[in-house]
Amino acid sequence: MSVVLLLNGPNLGILGQREPEVYGTDTLADIEAAVAEEVRVRGWEVASVQHDSEGDLVGAIHRHRGSTVGAIVNPGALMIAGWSLRDALASYAPPWVEVHLSNVWARERFRHDSVIAPLASGVVVGLGAFGYRLAARALLHLCAGTPGGPS
Ligand code: DQA
Repeated sequence: MSVVLLLNGPNLGILGQREPEVYGTDTLADIEAAVAEEVRVRGWEVASVQHDSEGDLVGAIHRHRGSTVGAIVNPGALMIAGWSLRDALASYAPPWVEVHLSNVWARERFRHDSVIAPLASGVVVGLGAFGYRLAARALLHLCAGTPGGPS
């Protein structure tokens, strides 16, 4: 069974309640269900991990390195200076897509740079929870021809 890692960083466990005018009303459970629905067409499953601390996210990447076909990563504020998260992702070989619900470039200056973006296969920004669906579709495309990917 092919598995996609859905990795969400700090403060994303309270989506739905957290600044809904910025991040929308979908909960993390809604997003997990949406990603699962997208990848089900290929028989893939989703391993969803959310942590508020960087070390736990690093550990999750290590654990899923050899057993996932790709990842969707919303680093939350760790986009700004999450260097150990960045280094963990550097050792994660499969394609992965960075997602931000909000349009970070339309917000405060400190959100404009992501330390992980240069390593990502692609980045989806500003499309709310739908961005996770797009990232899932991108992984299906990027994994075409690999074991567990579309033929
Ligand atoms: C976010 C954007 C980040 O700047 C912020 O710190 C978050 C959420 C987003 O999904 O829009 O926690 O990653």
